[in-house]
Amino acid sequence: MSPPSSATPPAAGPFQGAAVIGGTHGLGRALALAARERGLRTVVYGRSAAHLPDDEGLLPRFLDLCDPQSVRTVSVDVPQPCYVLWVAGAFLKKPLVETTECEVEQLTRLLFTGPVLFLRRLLARTAGPVHLITIASSSSWKRRERESLYCGLKAAQATLVRNLVPEMRAAHPENRITLINPGGLAVPDFHTGLDLDFGAMMDPVRVAEIVWDIATGQRQAFTEVQILRSRAPGSEGTPEVSYGARAPQPPEEPAPVSPPAHH
Ligand SMILES: NC(=O)c1ccc[n+]([C@@H]2O[C@H](COP(=O)([O-])OP(=O)(O)OC[C@H]3O[C@@H](n4cnc5c(N)ncnc54)[C@H](OP(=O)(O)O)[C@@H]3O)[C@@H](O)[C@H]2O)c1
Repeated sequence: MSPPSSATPPAAGPFQGAAVIGGTHGLGRALALAARERGLRTVVYGRSAAHLPDDEGLLPRFLDLCDPQSVRTVSVDVPQPCYVLWVAGAFLKKPLVETTECEVEQLTRLLFTGPVLFLRRLLARTAGPVHLITIASSSSWKRRERESLYCGLKAAQATLVRNLVPEMRAAHPENRITLINPGGLAVPDFHTGLDLDFGAMMDPVRVAEIVWDIATGQRQAFTEVQILRSRAPGSEGTPEVSYGARAPQPPEEPAPVSPPAHH
């Protein structure tokens, strides 16, 4: 299915604000700028929030998701009704036995514990409606190598928000959740040290537009969307949108079926 597109960004409906957890760089920054373009007062959380350019109209707030004290004390007052975007993350490609205890703890805080505790505070304070947009990953269901911790945490993120739907619905009938599983994005900082062809990966600005088009058009309580990059010759890196969850791939490629021998 080709992605939805809009020449002018659709209005954000009754929503007044957006809070982007990890909105300082990469996809989060593109999502934050697109939120502002849609007229939303946009709060951007991250460690480098203080370095955002003044003229972009974003409202910066320092947050270190790896520091429990920072997560406990940062302001969760956001303009309401609001979109909340769970985007922050970092990548780790390493066999588990080579991963230090500190790396396990920090990545778990960044990708899971920190955002969960932040959301717990924010949702408890917010009357609603709240529309939570979660950026998980196709790594939550795809076969990968030397990425078990990253993939496990991304699957946990996706599973958490699916199971948050009934509680959110009970809290406010117009609460919504959008779960996005993107494939590879052309964000070199995320893939530090890896030799990748960024020309064949998706443009984060384009993906951000697609995410906002899906979220602003969403009527049901929950939508799960895959945004994967095309591998077709000539259109490598073009985003391809499909709806619904994917079954996890088995850990090894299925053995090729050998053709029947002819004698
Ligand atoms: N890039 C890809 O190919 C890809 C594919 C699928 C899914 N994703 C997911 O998309 C999301 C965004 O990734 P990206 O590619 O845009 O990466 P990125 O450019 O490296 O951005 C990561 C964001 O997370 C924030 N962050 C990192 N550590 C933090 C901390 N300790 N506390 C608070 N915020 C922190 C960063 O802000 P500060 O540095 O200011 O703290 C930054 O805004 C991630 O969840 C990632 O798993 C990425």
